[in-house]
Amino acid sequence: MLAMEATVDKAKELAAQRSLEFIQDGMVVGMGSGTTATHFIKLLGERVQQGLKVRGIPSSRASEDLARSLGIPVIDFHDATEIDVTIDGADEVTHKLDLIKGGGGALLREKIVASASKLFVVVADSRKLVERLGKFPLPVEVIQMAAPLVARKLEALGVKPTVRRNSSGGDYITDEGNLILDCACGQIDDPQKLAAEIRAIVGVVEHGLFLGMANIALIASDTDVKELTRS
Ligand code: A5P
Repeated sequence: MLAMEATVDKAKELAAQRSLEFIQDGMVVGMGSGTTATHFIKLLGERVQQGLKVRGIPSSRASEDLARSLGIPVIDFHDATEIDVTIDGADEVTHKLDLIKGGGGALLREKIVASASKLFVVVADSRKLVERLGKFPLPVEVIQMAAPLVARKLEALGVKPTVRRNSSGGDYITDEGNLILDCACGQIDDPQKLAAEIRAIVGVVEHGLFLGMANIALIASDTDVKELTRS
């Protein structure tokens, strides 16, 4: 790992470590996806092995597999209708705690899990904190057969969609069997408006704008963690 990557990874781990403060015995815990959430799940697994009693609802197959491998009891929405606290990463975080998520491709389940959570805590390294959303391409999950149609409608909104590819060069397929269009937006001046416009396109399953959902963000450098709260 390069020095810079090691520093960023240390920050991600620090944020994940701090997030354990929000976990108590008996809780139903939403487990996010991505590298920062992976740190959290590993640390949670250690606590479970030490006797902590929690049940986890994962936001991706990868997080589910990891949680099971660590002995964290995994449940679904048949077993619980509400999540006490969800810990998840983000690709961009504003000071108002609006987010872009979905860089890892799990935005649909992540949004479902976040929407069912009493408390949604974002864990991120400080590179993710931005004044305005939009530098990171906005992921939009779409039904496969509708993708060309949705892409044209997104272009009409002024964004530039690209079909996400996997590491072998084929289409990236989400856990739910859909495609992702990564949309270069530039600075998003009115995220609420863009979210509503994208949501109105038939064939869009979900988008990566998480507005007014996060309650707390733990933003870490490699030496300390700042806690931001949504007012
Ligand atoms: C997964 O789909 C994403 O929403 C992740 O939460 C986001 O991409 C952050 O990932 P990292 O923690 O790997 O930076």
